[in-house]
Amino acid sequence: VLSHRISPRLELALREAANGHRGPTLFFDLQAIRARMLRLADLQQSVGCRFVMAAKAFRAPRVYELAAELLAGFDVSNLNEYEELPGDLRGLRVSVSAPVLPSDLSALQKRGNALLVYLDAPDQLPRLRAAGAPVAFGIRLASTSFVAPGPRRPSAPWQESRFGVAARDVETLAALTACAPHRFAGFHLHHGFGGNTGEVYVELARGAVELAAKLGVELRVLDLGGGLHGIPEPELPGALARVREAVPAATELVFEPGALLSAGAGAALARVESAQPRDGALVCTLDLSAAWHLRWSDPVPLRAPTAQASARRRVLLFGPTCSEHDFLGAFTLPAEPGREPLAAGELLAFAGISGYSVSCNAGFNGIPPARVVLLE
Ligand SMILES: Cc1ncc(COP(=O)(O)O)c(C=O)c1O
Repeated sequence: VLSHRISPRLELALREAANGHRGPTLFFDLQAIRARMLRLADLQQSVGCRFVMAAKAFRAPRVYELAAELLAGFDVSNLNEYEELPGDLRGLRVSVSAPVLPSDLSALQKRGNALLVYLDAPDQLPRLRAAGAPVAFGIRLASTSFVAPGPRRPSAPWQESRFGVAARDVETLAALTACAPHRFAGFHLHHGFGGNTGEVYVELARGAVELAAKLGVELRVLDLGGGLHGIPEPELPGALARVREAVPAATELVFEPGALLSAGAGAALARVESAQPRDGALVCTLDLSAAWHLRWSDPVPLRAPTAQASARRRVLLFGPTCSEHDFLGAFTLPAEPGREPLAAGELLAFAGISGYSVSCNAGFNGIPPARVVLLE
């Protein structure tokens, strides 16, 4: 759950940057990210599970270095993601789970890591078969075989995950698990609809364990994917322990945190380019784009109420591009009576900025990507 308070280090960086605004900027506190990874490293020991970083969730060499030092490895989608990881991955696991499987699987082992390939669909089998040496492989299961989609349902009139093989396709699964000479290792499930609770992971785990028993295969590994930021952090140890209890002791339990790694550790700074009252609200354009700079973030303006700011005003914040949909959100900000809370030329800081925004940070429409500052 994203915290709307930011660390004193982020606050200081925002204050310093406000003295000479150099365009829309995303800030991340690497110490906060490191501290979170250290807590996960502790949980690996106390709960008996492993965390591999979803590489897509924060495309930055410094963050990858921290994950390589503190976590058990990475989950990647393809060779491009793999090649951005640290050069030496000895002692770490790299798993691959993607709707498009890389064609050369051996290239995903060249940095000394152990490799685990999860098949997302039967049509990926030829790529596994083409691998020269035997590869440890698993099968991604559709999470909706075991739990309903969460609050962020797909807009398609379809209530299943588009990823993985449905657990009801028992014949397909039986054929896939028997793919000699490659060795079946286990199942992968990622429930990516948002709002995962501890119960969701328990249900996924139980479903996978029962399915393995039905197929008569050994479940050496069970990877329950990401989405852990849906669980309030103080509840995470207990929630993970309950998942551990639902899985046989001999099964390695893996999670792939993504958004959790940077939750609460990111902020942004924007300049208000225009502010005009319209239909009872103040409509503002910022130099920070929701669509291109803040992908998968939940920006929340940081404006503390003060004694003078006794009034409240609804503001609508838009990005600088030509898109009608470049919208950061509608917020109620404190204001001094008779004055607007924002004016052109003022700076506005945000909490709730995710590492995913760094991965997707782009220019568009002549507007450059946001500057990214990683605070050591
Ligand atoms: C396969 C897989 N694992 C892990 C993650 C990370 O998810 P989250 O950022 O919700 O933790 C994702 C995100 O898309 C994913 O697709």
